[in-house]
Amino acid sequence: MGKQRVLSGVQPTGNLHLGNYLGAIRNWVEIQQHYDNFFCVVDLHAITVPHRPATLAQDTYAIAALYLACGIDLQYSTIFIQSHVSAHSELAWLLNCVTPLNWLERMIQFKEKALKQGENVSVGLLDYPVLMAADILLYDADLVPVGEDQKQHLELTRDIAARVNDQFAGPEAPVLKIPDPLIRSEGARVMSLTDGTRKMSKSDPLEQSRINLLDSPDDIIKKLKRCKTDPIRGLTFDDRDRPECHNLLTLYRLLSGKDKTTVAAECADMGWGQFKPLLAAVAIAALEPIQAKYRELMDSRDYLNTVLRQGQEKAAVVAGATLTRVKDALGYLPPL
Ligand code: TYM
Repeated sequence: MGKQRVLSGVQPTGNLHLGNYLGAIRNWVEIQQHYDNFFCVVDLHAITVPHRPATLAQDTYAIAALYLACGIDLQYSTIFIQSHVSAHSELAWLLNCVTPLNWLERMIQFKEKALKQGENVSVGLLDYPVLMAADILLYDADLVPVGEDQKQHLELTRDIAARVNDQFAGPEAPVLKIPDPLIRSEGARVMSLTDGTRKMSKSDPLEQSRINLLDSPDDIIKKLKRCKTDPIRGLTFDDRDRPECHNLLTLYRLLSGKDKTTVAAECADMGWGQFKPLLAAVAIAALEPIQAKYRELMDSRDYLNTVLRQGQEKAAVVAGATLTRVKDALGYLPPL
C-alpha cells in the first residue's frame, strides 16, 4: 500500500508567528517522511480580507521559503501556490453549489472576522471554508495537520465531502475521500503574549502579542520581557487560573524539546525574572537557523521558482484528476 496523503496550507498574510510554526508547520516537518505531502501557500484565501497587491507576490515567496527553511523536505513533500492550480477555484465553485448557506454562517472564524470588518465583509470571506474544502478534497488527503482553530473548518470539509458522496455517488464508489484532522495536543493553540486567554494571531493589531518567526533576537527579548504574566512565584502548567503561565511554559517546552515533567521540575521554583530570559534564549536558538536558511532562500529566486514550478506541475496532475472525477459525477459534458 502507498503512503497516506497529507495536505495543509498557510495564508500569505503578514508574518508567520510561533502559533503557525508550533501548531502547524513544525508538525508537518516531523511527520513528513511517513506520508505523501502537499503543502500549499493559500494565496486565494489571502484576499478574503482586504490585502495589499503590492506585497502579495513577495509574501507568497516568503511563505514558500519559510516552509523550506523550517525543514519541509522536497524528497517527501510538494510545495506549491494555490492560485497556480486552477482546479482549486473550480472545485470551490462546484462545492459552493452543494453547500447549504447556513453551514457557512455558523463558522466561528467567519463570525469573528466579519465582526471586525463591519459592512465590508466579502462573499469570499463567507465562502472561505468551501475553498479550503476544495484544497483538501482535491488531493484525496487522508490527514490535514492544523492548529485547533481550523477544527471547525475540517468538520465542514468532511460534511461537504459526505454530502457530495451522498448526492452524486453510491456508498461503494465515493467521489471524494473524507479527511481527518491532525491536531496535536500541545502547540495546537498558542496564546497571545498580551492575553493568555486569546490565541496568538496574525491579525492582532498589537505586534507585542506575538513572536514572529523572523523577529530579531532583540525583538524576542523585548517582547518576552514585556509579556503578560502574573504576580505568583513558582511556575506550573496546571493552574487553570494562570493561562499565561501555561502558555509560556508550553512554549518553553516545545522550543527546548524538553519533556513536560522535566520543564515542570526545572521551573517549579522559578520567578518570572529568571524564566523569561531562559525562554527568550530557547526561542532565539530555535529560530536562528530558520532565519538564516530563510534569508539564503529568499536570495535564491531561481531555485524557489523551480521548486514552485515543479510543485505546481505535480499538484495540477493530482488535482486535475479529482476535478474530472467530480465533474463526471455531477454529470458534466467533458471537453470535446
Ligand atoms: P492560517 O494561515 O491562519 O494559519 C496557518 C496554520 O497555523 C495554525 N495556527 C495556530 N496554531 C496554534 N496556535 C495558534 N495561535 C495558531 N494560529 C494559527 C492554523 O491552525 C493553521 O494550521 N484556513 C487556513 C489555511 C488553509 C488550509 C487549507 C489549511 C487554507 N486551505 C487546507 C489546511 C488545509 C488558515 O487560515 O490558516
